Amino acid sequence: MAVIPVDIAGRPYEVRVGAGLLAELVPHCRGRLRKPDVAIVTDENVYRHWGAVVQTALHDAGHTPHWRILPAGEGTKSWDELSRMVDWLLDLGIERGDHILALGGGVIGDLTGFAASIVKRGCNFIQLPTSLLAQVDSSVGGKTAINTPAGKNLVGAFHQPSLVLADLAVLDTLSERELRAGYAEVVKYGLIGDLDFFHWCDEHGAAMLAGDASLREYAVAYSVAAKAKIVAEDEYETTGKRALLNLGHTFGHALEAETHYSDFLLHGEAVAIGMALAARYSARRGLMPRASAEHVAGHFAAVGMKSELSALRLDCDGRDLVAHMLHDKKMDAGTLPFLLMRGIGETFLAKDVELDDVAAFLEEELRR
Ligand code: GLY
Repeated sequence: MAVIPVDIAGRPYEVRVGAGLLAELVPHCRGRLRKPDVAIVTDENVYRHWGAVVQTALHDAGHTPHWRILPAGEGTKSWDELSRMVDWLLDLGIERGDHILALGGGVIGDLTGFAASIVKRGCNFIQLPTSLLAQVDSSVGGKTAINTPAGKNLVGAFHQPSLVLADLAVLDTLSERELRAGYAEVVKYGLIGDLDFFHWCDEHGAAMLAGDASLREYAVAYSVAAKAKIVAEDEYETTGKRALLNLGHTFGHALEAETHYSDFLLHGEAVAIGMALAARYSARRGLMPRASAEHVAGHFAAVGMKSELSALRLDCDGRDLVAHMLHDKKMDAGTLPFLLMRGIGETFLAKDVELDDVAAFLEEELRR
């Protein structure tokens, strides 16, 4: 098992990464489940795979789990579900010092974390991430949110979990497609700041996706450590450091919005294409060697992921995609900072990007 500290000032916590952590949930929580009653939130799919394991782990340690089993999917990150969850937590008599368990992917973690941030002005929660994407990104760092008609994640709070238990056994119950989508966020850490890790992905990514246990532990632990370092330096995304984690996301969110956040394009799939676009756009501006940008796109293609915007066959033009970007949370007084690259592992925040130029670039990529 790997243990990665997240050194948030005043509220440090651990991310534990290893196989079998859910079955040993209670000892890993190390006294945080201080009452017999435990509130636990999950979705129907995760409950089907892991409900019995977690139920047994809690029950055998003398706890009574109170399950809230929600529909799977982004639609669950809504005001309605948030309000019902808050009422449920209050009915359970949750106190600030109690810990709510969030067993699921990003949707469950974001919604439960946001509820925890507002109940009694903030109570504790523990992340039990069950997707690769949640393990390497969304469960770590305290971003919580719901979606509204205006867009994804536009309402939320920074609220750090007390503990994250990333059980690698859950990766065996994911579809190949979901696993690959999460893998995009693994590769992201190499693209942001570590050429050697990108080379590791080149060499081992396919075997990791195919199921090699030690490669999986390394990939998740490395990713968590990379994120933990950034979050500890810039918890509230004020210095520009944490914004690096959004590499590929501005392009990716535009693609998700254009495809109505549907199963046509999972978040990680959109981010993979988004990172390939960020690399190509950087090369177009002369910032990055063209061969490096093609290496990024080629890497995703080599592990069976879409990396070309044109392959999506979208019925839109470059301006339509840029219009979606105007809802980006990074918008600042009419300008949109972009994550660009000087090379693989050398991502930076550029504040001089003209949206007309981005639209022209996207138009070329759509017709490529
Ligand atoms: N997923 C980006 C962040 O946590 O900042």
